[in-house]
Amino acid sequence: MEPRCLRLAILASGRGSNFMAIRDAINKGALNAQISVLISDKANAPALQRAEQSGIPGVFMDPRVYPDRQTYECEIVKQLESREIDLIVLAGYMHLVGRALLHAYPHKILNIHPALLPSFSGLHAQRQAVDYGVKYSGCTVHFVDEGMDTGAIIDQVVVPLNHHDTEDDLAERILVEEHKIYAKVLQWIAEGRVYIEGRQVFVDHRSEF
Ligand code: GRF
Repeated sequence: MEPRCLRLAILASGRGSNFMAIRDAINKGALNAQISVLISDKANAPALQRAEQSGIPGVFMDPRVYPDRQTYECEIVKQLESREIDLIVLAGYMHLVGRALLHAYPHKILNIHPALLPSFSGLHAQRQAVDYGVKYSGCTVHFVDEGMDTGAIIDQVVVPLNHHDTEDDLAERILVEEHKIYAKVLQWIAEGRVYIEGRQVFVDHRSEF
């Protein structure tokens, strides 16, 4: 399949470092995509400012002014459809995704999680890993379903824990890997090399050789 320029929407609630890594991958030609919009549920999210500084439209959508998640997500869908978005990229988006978005974009919503799923889902994944005493953690890129970090896994990177690592130490080292894996997976999708069958995701690596 011919590689196509994916039209991405980023949904972010916080600092936006994954957004910037994806933007940088696009700018240096490693990712055949464009970021058409960044939507945030937080008015003061640094991600919004960073989008605007990058010349990417940043849209604040306040969930508190909608009666429920369904109505809120329908408004998001309108924003995405008007921009002809191919793929939704969650990058530190602090909400569970509901039916309205999932039905409008089946298998077209991705998330990144700072642990090796299914271990340490939910909040404070790095703290959970340190407290549990695992020797390896990492990050996971997965399709989004209705659960909390439960969707089909596309790729993972392992990050070893060092003796006396704090939560912040581990988070910092995982973040370095997050910034690489997200753009890499998006490029696989842009090249039409990712297939999903139930919970199994297959990546066709033949064209790499
Ligand atoms: C990342 O650690 C990501 O794995 C998690 O939320 C954090 C977002 O960081 N889902 P940033 O806003 O992209 O810097």
